[in-house]
Amino acid sequence: MNRKQFLKTCGFGCLAGIAGVTLLQSCASSQILSREIKDSDLLVPISDFIIQKGTKTEFKKYIIIQNEILKAPICVYRFDTNDYCAMFMLCTHQGAELQVFGDKLQCPAHGSEFSNRGILENGPANTDLRKFPVAIENNILKISLK
Ligand code: FES
Repeated sequence: MNRKQFLKTCGFGCLAGIAGVTLLQSCASSQILSREIKDSDLLVPISDFIIQKGTKTEFKKYIIIQNEILKAPICVYRFDTNDYCAMFMLCTHQGAELQVFGDKLQCPAHGSEFSNRGILENGPANTDLRKFPVAIENNILKISLK
């Protein structure tokens, strides 16, 4: 194997490794959970955000919740102990289901982008995402679907 072939082989190997690690990290942090709806509240235990690493407690940035009666999943971002934002993962342009990429929700249909607070950042959509009020009771997020 000459120098050029060696570098080419190593380069592809590194790229594959980085892509694999990135994919695994994104899977670990973007778990999709199925949670119960009681009355008109979607109930999400705060523990769903917890990542326990030995004695160290960390929190997921967001989780995605689904329930069979919902038209689309709900993405819940955690900003702080008492600050959560729950929004419908349905594009306000033509109703495609959104995908989460870190701190943004993106539409695979025509490229609209929304912030982690549901604010429209790029069209063609022209309105923010539908958001749901979140209350915290006994370590459970009560996401009002009214
Ligand atoms: S449906 Fe999302 S941008 Fe068109």
